Amino acid sequence: MLGIIGGSGLYNLESAKKLEEVTLSTPFGEPSSPIVIFQLEGRKIAFLSRHGKGHVYPPHLVPYRANLWAFRELGVDRILSLSAVGGIKGDLRPGDYVVVNDFIDLTKSRESTFYEGKLSHKVSGEDKVAKLLREGRVVHVDMSEAYCPQLRNVICSVLEKLGLPFHREGVYACTEGPRFETPSEIRAIERLGGDVVGMTGYPEVVLAKELAMCYCSLCIVTNPAAGIASYRLTSDEVISLMKKKGEELKIVLTHFIKNLTDERTCQCANSLEGAEV
Ligand code: HPA
Repeated sequence: MLGIIGGSGLYNLESAKKLEEVTLSTPFGEPSSPIVIFQLEGRKIAFLSRHGKGHVYPPHLVPYRANLWAFRELGVDRILSLSAVGGIKGDLRPGDYVVVNDFIDLTKSRESTFYEGKLSHKVSGEDKVAKLLREGRVVHVDMSEAYCPQLRNVICSVLEKLGLPFHREGVYACTEGPRFETPSEIRAIERLGGDVVGMTGYPEVVLAKELAMCYCSLCIVTNPAAGIASYRLTSDEVISLMKKKGEELKIVLTHFIKNLTDERTCQCANSLEGAEV
C-alpha cells in the first residue's frame, strides 16, 4: 500500500473517499496522528499528518519512528512524503516543486534508527526487520540512493505532464529547527551543496530505508531561505503557500496514483541485504 505523509498546511486528503481512521500504538510510541485510509483511483492509500491534528508536533519532536512503524503495521511499503522547504539554489521560486535525490543531515537530537543493537526493541514478526531487531543486530543501511528512483520518476513525469514548475533533482538539507536558519547558516549549507532546506525530511528517509520501504520526497518551495530574500521568514508564509497549493497537490497525487504500477521495479525492498553486522 502507498502511504502519504502530509507536511505543514496539508493535514488531510478531503477530496478522496475516506474508508476508515486507524489509531495505533507502536513499540516506538504513538504516531503523530491517527492514520486515515482513503480510496483514490480504486486504490487504498494511508494518509498520516506529520505534525498531527492541529499541528501539535514541532519538527524536532515528531515521532518519526512511530510514524514509520505504524505505516509498516498497516502494510505500507511505499511512501510519498510532502514537505515545505526554503529555496537556496538560485533558480528556485516559491511554488516550485523539487523532487530531491539526496540529503544532508544537520539535525542534532533525533532518534534516527530502529536498530539499536543490544538495546533494540524485541518486536514480534517473522520478516527480516523483526528478526534483526529481536536478534539485537547492528545495521548500517546504504544511502547511495536515498530516495526511490521509481517513485521519483513517476512524480517527475506527472509534474512534467501537468506543466508545473519542478526540478527533477535537488539536495535537501535538514536542520533541527524549530527556528528558521540564519543567513550565515544558509550560506554554509549552500557551500555544502544544499539546494533546499527543511526541518522534517530526516530521519524519515532513513527510517523508511531501514524498513525496506520505497520513499520519495516531494518538496514544495514556500519561501526563499533566510538571507536570500531581504524580508523576515514567517510560519504564515509557509502555511499559506502550502494551503494555496492544496488543490494542485491533490491533482498531482491523483495522477501520481494513476501512473504508479503495483510492481516495485527499484531495489528499495533489498535495502537490508548485507546491511547487518
Ligand atoms: N527553513 C527550514 N524549513 C522550512 C523553510 C525554511 O526556510 N521553509 C519551509 N520549511
